[in-house]
Amino acid sequence: MNVNDFLKKKKENRKITIVTAYNYPMAKMADDAGIDAVLVGDSLGMVMLGYDNTIPVTMEDMIMHCKAVSRGLTNAMLICDMPFMSYQVSTKDAIKNAGRLMQEAGAHAVKLEGGKEIADTVKRLVELGIPVMGHIGMTPQSVYKFGGFKAQGKTVAQAKKLIEDARALQEAGAFSVVLEVVPEELAEIISKELYIPTIGIGAGNKCDGQVQVITDLLGMTAGFVPKHSKKMADLYSAGLAGLKEYIDAVENKGFPDESTCPHLKDETLNEIKKG
Ligand code: KIV
Repeated sequence: MNVNDFLKKKKENRKITIVTAYNYPMAKMADDAGIDAVLVGDSLGMVMLGYDNTIPVTMEDMIMHCKAVSRGLTNAMLICDMPFMSYQVSTKDAIKNAGRLMQEAGAHAVKLEGGKEIADTVKRLVELGIPVMGHIGMTPQSVYKFGGFKAQGKTVAQAKKLIEDARALQEAGAFSVVLEVVPEELAEIISKELYIPTIGIGAGNKCDGQVQVITDLLGMTAGFVPKHSKKMADLYSAGLAGLKEYIDAVENKGFPDESTCPHLKDETLNEIKKG
């Protein structure tokens, strides 16, 4: 899967599937399942590192997790988020940091949050050979500006701005754009307007593809799960049951039993005992 396949899938009206992953086993599972692309999202700050939002995530965090994910992939495209303030200060910073994600961490593309205001940076990255995925709507790095994780594009002015942002990203050379928590009707208008694919999350099913956070999708945590995600498995409950069984086995059932127990040869044991 590469940037051309993204465009091809849209042309052929075939949906694009993306899931986040943050480590080797998650990446391997997604790749083995046949996912089109894996996103090392800066959501890792919340679902892996326990922060309240994505603001504290650093370049070093992204590089470490992206490296692990890249070792788990064979077929899927690897897209890595650029964390807060790694691309907003200057285009020079953006180039240096995007370059690190590709060169050190194995990313095939990077994702930046924002529309018109980052279009020049996107253009320069693409000119230099760095594929860029855009991300507009409820962009988590702007959580303080929005006053919370709130749906965007619900007023005429907001919707018009998002349409302009999507156009600006396409013109700048982005190969696709994520639409996060925007009304389905707006997502449909943008998807029809653009020739690059739109990837929705909490944006209804009229986008050209979908992205989901793997911990929500597979029920890996007991905590809050956003309304727009669907639990396709319950790994938390399965893990809890397995761990309880392990505790019971150690405490009450003589685990490990003979079948997994290593032994010394009699003569070796006798020698040892002789001192
Ligand atoms: O960080 C992330 O996981 C994301 C997706 C929700 C699109 O940006």
